[in-house]
Amino acid sequence: MGINILGLGKYVPEQVLTNDDFKRFIDTDDEWIRTRTGICERHMAGWEPTWYMGKEASLVAIKKAGISPEDIGLVISCTATSDFHTPSMASVIQHETGAVNACAFDINAACTGFIYGLDTARRFLETDESMKYALVVANESLSRFVDFKDRASCILFGDGACACVIEKSDKLFASHLASDGSGAGYLCARALDVAPEVKIDKDFDDGFTKNPLHKLYQNGKEVYKFAVNALPESFERISEKTGLTKDEIDWFIPHQANIRIIETASKKLGVLMDKFIVTIDHYGNTSSASIPLALEESVEKGIIKRGQKIALIGFGAGLTYGGIVLEY
Ligand code: UT7
Repeated sequence: MGINILGLGKYVPEQVLTNDDFKRFIDTDDEWIRTRTGICERHMAGWEPTWYMGKEASLVAIKKAGISPEDIGLVISCTATSDFHTPSMASVIQHETGAVNACAFDINAACTGFIYGLDTARRFLETDESMKYALVVANESLSRFVDFKDRASCILFGDGACACVIEKSDKLFASHLASDGSGAGYLCARALDVAPEVKIDKDFDDGFTKNPLHKLYQNGKEVYKFAVNALPESFERISEKTGLTKDEIDWFIPHQANIRIIETASKKLGVLMDKFIVTIDHYGNTSSASIPLALEESVEKGIIKRGQKIALIGFGAGLTYGGIVLEY
């Protein structure tokens, strides 16, 4: 069973941080950031909580889908930067959007979150006859977790949200979800208030000792090495399932982490960059929101059209990775 994407909606904060803006607090320059990452600017949440961005994106998606919120049976919020330990942001968004008949929960698969969320939603729709529509929203405020003293990571991230309403259909759909937890310490942020206790016990090493804080820690080189292999591997695994070759895919939408990762993956896959959707220049890395934001933009611009086959591929903290091939 596949899905039909009925409506997409986004919300990005008004505040924009250019590469030059970073010069105010770290030793960097526009040239380094552009050439090493492909990023020119990113949106930064100001007063908006993360759930608020998710709610706004969801309302647009519901409106575009042309459905009534009461008919939504499931709300999944994909986030690595929740406003709460509890409740789930999905519960808040469920209430705010009027999806009164939905069950609601969050998924944290970091930058692969939307892939995990969309695939989970599809499975719910498949197994629950009474469920008509699902709302999957990816919402992130990386700026609240980034260490603005760490110049190698703070310049990468941006904030934003993107939601989609789906229904079941018999269209093409295949997925691959994976995780390599041995690399969990390469990209991590502790829960607030846990760190001091861990520091006190000097004999205790939980594998995250490089990051005693709740700010984001990244071993960029290790994550880079993982990412350039994860992307083609995930596509190959889906290809094995569907029999579809790379030439039969109209568009590839990779997680927007670094333009060099996307270029290397395109070479490894043997697919020209023309087929890759790239939005990293104006959004930066928005974690789980990056893939749906790129999808939404391409649909709005008329680049991606109904009937086309698209491959969504994510990778990130966990280390998680995975992909979905579907017909739009
Ligand atoms: O969505 C989650 C997934 N995350 C990722 O996919 C991130 C993967 N990793 C990366 O994209 C890259 O590793 C980074 C963009 C994070 C770093 O790029 P790099 O080419 O690996 O740079 P580097 O860390 O090797 O640093 C090279 C030099 C260093 O200076 P020295 O030691 O050669 O003098 C850094 O101190 O660049 C310096 N540097 C900077 N210079 C100016 C690091 N950050 C900056 C900066 N501005 N912002």
